[in-house]
Amino acid sequence: MKTYDLFAPATLAERHALFAKMRSEPGLCRVEPFGAFAAARYEDAAALLKDPQRFSSEALAITAEPPWLGANPVAHSLISKDPPNHTRLRALVSRAFGPKGMARLEARVRQESEALAEAAVRQREVELVDAFTFVLPRNIIGFMLGLDPSTFSEFKRWSLYMGLITSATTPEQREGVRSVVREMSDYLTEVIEARRRQPGDDMVSDLLRAEVEGKALTNAEVLSFLSLLLPAGMETTTQLLGNSVIHLAQRPEQLAQARADKAHLPRFIEEVLRYESPTQLSFRLATQDVELAGTKVPAGSLVLGLVGSANRDERVFERPDEFIPGREKGTQHLSFGYGVHFCLGVQLARMEARLGLEALVSRVSAIRLRSPEIHWNPGFTMHGPAVLPVDLIPA
Ligand code: HEM
Repeated sequence: MKTYDLFAPATLAERHALFAKMRSEPGLCRVEPFGAFAAARYEDAAALLKDPQRFSSEALAITAEPPWLGANPVAHSLISKDPPNHTRLRALVSRAFGPKGMARLEARVRQESEALAEAAVRQREVELVDAFTFVLPRNIIGFMLGLDPSTFSEFKRWSLYMGLITSATTPEQREGVRSVVREMSDYLTEVIEARRRQPGDDMVSDLLRAEVEGKALTNAEVLSFLSLLLPAGMETTTQLLGNSVIHLAQRPEQLAQARADKAHLPRFIEEVLRYESPTQLSFRLATQDVELAGTKVPAGSLVLGLVGSANRDERVFERPDEFIPGREKGTQHLSFGYGVHFCLGVQLARMEARLGLEALVSRVSAIRLRSPEIHWNPGFTMHGPAVLPVDLIPA
């Protein structure tokens, strides 16, 4: 069985050619780093993600606490737990993310989107990650958690380095991750202690009050959840917004359609999610000797679900390398995961993308990328532009 090096610079540049090769192989592939197995086809990645008994999310606990890092609260959050522990934690935190919670947030998301889009278009020549694609989700998650806006300036660095945990290779990247885990834990611990002393009308206070079967969350459990939520709420949606802006700039007909018909944007956003999945993989751990896609996987092996590849699988999506909003099965991509860990923030992410892009496209007749080369984020897992210098041509 051939081994593929996922984190090699050549892979980052040519990931879809590599994925196509991996999908053409029968069964699972072997990949480095981690000496892991990888499911590159849609059917196999979905089978992996929906089977927590045989493929445990404890894999995340291992990959989020590599020996060079040490203790990391995010490794103990619900994303790395299996049922029934996962079920209890998810029940405690999911209320805020349901349709009612989202309806309450909508006015705030719209207001932030309008203000940020207005300011960006006024600047005309603007770096959009700083001015828009990062700041919008940051302000919204900060608002949900009731955080002090004067503390937001460190969040970009935090979320960047948290996204690098599984793929940090250089000493600088690893030192950056170590400091960020420390700083973010100290900050969130202070927030939790302050809310225990003086509860407010925010999600941290709600989490501290919440109980299932008479049991509340401990401080350590709340810290783990917030350490997951703060970067998850910012980084992934930033990638989705950034990738969307690139496609609007490179495909003027999409911008024109979005301006002419608001109903086009949700279809466009789903296709960006499929085509440029913000997170490219999910980790699982084989709990026993198992067989997946005809490949024997020994107990204790790491198995990766290659979401970025599954979303381009020609067995599911016709002409997968073409960008076709509203395509058949267009919402069946795996970008928000599959099964019990299906993204908790899915409605929020879709709402931020829709309202954010609505505010932007209603104000511009064209978006021009100021550099022909896209400067992508480092690392394999988070996929989106690190910076996005553009000219916004006012409508
Ligand atoms: C475009 C934006 C987003 C994408 C692509 C995305 C993607 C994902 C994926 C793939 C998973 C499953 C991981 C796995 O199975 O191992 C997940 C889980 C999760 N996401 Fe998102 N996410 C996005 C936005 C958000 C937002 C805005 C929030 C919160 C504010 C959020 C919070 C979470 C949480 C808490 C989980 C863990 C759920 C669980 O373990 O039960 N996500 N997300």
